[in-house]
Amino acid sequence: SKTYKITLLPGDGIGPEVIAESVKVLDAVAEKSGFALEYTTQNAGGAAIDAHNDPMPDSVVETCKASDAVLLGAVGGPKWDHLAGALRPESGLLKIRKELGAFANLRPVTVPASLAENSPLRPEAVSGLDLFTVRELTGGIYFGEPIGESGEGDDKKAWNTMVYSVGEIKRVARVAFEWARKRRNKVTSVDKANVLAVSRLWRDTVKELHEAEYSDVELDHMYIDNAAMQMVINPRQFDVILTGNVFGDILSDASATLGGSLGLLPSASVGGPVGLFEPVHGSAPDIAGQGKANPFAMILSVAMMLDTLDESAAAAAIRAGVDKVLDQGYRSGDLWREGNTLASTTELGDLVKNAAVATL
Ligand code: NAD
Ligand code: IPM
Ligand code: MN
Repeated sequence: SKTYKITLLPGDGIGPEVIAESVKVLDAVAEKSGFALEYTTQNAGGAAIDAHNDPMPDSVVETCKASDAVLLGAVGGPKWDHLAGALRPESGLLKIRKELGAFANLRPVTVPASLAENSPLRPEAVSGLDLFTVRELTGGIYFGEPIGESGEGDDKKAWNTMVYSVGEIKRVARVAFEWARKRRNKVTSVDKANVLAVSRLWRDTVKELHEAEYSDVELDHMYIDNAAMQMVINPRQFDVILTGNVFGDILSDASATLGGSLGLLPSASVGGPVGLFEPVHGSAPDIAGQGKANPFAMILSVAMMLDTLDESAAAAAIRAGVDKVLDQGYRSGDLWREGNTLASTTELGDLVKNAAVATL
C-alpha cells in the first residue's frame, strides 16, 4: 500500500487546532482505505519567528519540497504585527507558495441545503450553490517590484507594484478554463480593466487564449467592484471565477458569506510539483485557544489534497462526512442558529471522522 509524505505547517492561532482535527480525520479514512501517511511537523509564520527568527526557514521549504503534499493551518496574529514586511508571518506564507510554484489557488464554495438557513442571505438565494474561484497566487501586487518606502513626515511614501506577464496570466487562465470544462463550462474573468493597464493586459490575454484554445467555454468579463456586488446579489450566475491575486483574496472572503462562514472554505494552492492545502481563513486571534474554531475549512482542504493525490474515494468520504454532520445540525459558534447543536472544534472533528469512515 502507498505511503504519502505530508508536511504539516500548523502555524498560529487556530491553525494548530484545525490541523489536529484534519489529521484525525485523514488518519481514520486512510486506515480504512488502505493507504498510510508519514507526517513531518514544522514551524511556519509566527511560530517560526519565535523559534528561528524567520517566518519560513529554508529548511522548512526543503522539507515541503520533499513531500507529496503540504497542509497549512494559518499564520499571523497581533503578536507579530509590529514586524516589518519580510519578517512578518504572512511573508512566510508568500514564500512557501512561491517556492512551491503554487500559482493557482482553487477556492470552491458549495452551500448544501442544510447550510442555507445559516447564511445571512435568503436561503433560496444560496441553497445548492456551487462556485469555484481560481485566484492567481504567486504574482500581481503581492510580489511585484518595485516595492519600498522613502521620505519623512507627510512626504513619507510607500509603494507596491501590480504586474503580470502574459505567461503568468495564460497559465492560470488555463487552469480556470480546464475546471470550467469539468463543471458548468463558464468562466467569469474579474479585473479592473477600466482603470488599470495590468488589467487590460489580463483581459486581452484571457480573450486571446479563449479564442485560440477554449472557445467552447462561455467567457464573461467583469470589473471587481461589480463582481463583489454580484457575488452577494446573484451568486448563482457564477461557475468559475478567474482573477488575480489581490482581487481573488477579497472576492473569496466575500464568497464565504454565501454559506455563512469563512470557517467553511477550503483551498488548494497548486501548479508546482507539490501542492499546498490551506483553508481560506486566517489564524482568527479572536477565538484562538478556546475550542471554538470551525475545522471544516481545514478538513475540506484535506479532501482537496486527497483528490490531488488520486485518493478520490477517501476525499469523497470526507466530504460526505462533513455533509452528514451539517445535516445533523451540528455547528460551531460561527454558524450556530436557533435549532442547531453547538459543537466544539474537537467534537466536530470526531463527528466528521466517524461519519466519513462509515461511508467507506
Ligand atoms: P481571519 O480569517 O483570521 O478571521 C476573520 C473572522 O473570521 C474572525 O472573526 C474569525 O474569528 C472568523 N473565523 C476565521 N476562521 C474561522 C474558523 N475556522 N472558525 C470560526 N471562525 C473563523 O482574518 P483576520 O482576522 O483578518 O486575520 C487574522 C490573522 O490571520 C492576521 O494576522 C492575518 O494576516 C492572518 N491571516 C492568515 C491567513 C493564512 O494563514 N492563510 C489567511 C487570512 C488571514
Ligand atoms: C489568504 C490570506 C493571505 C493572502 C495572507 C495571510 C498572506 O489572506 O490566504 O487569503 O492574502 O493570500
Ligand atoms: Mn485572504
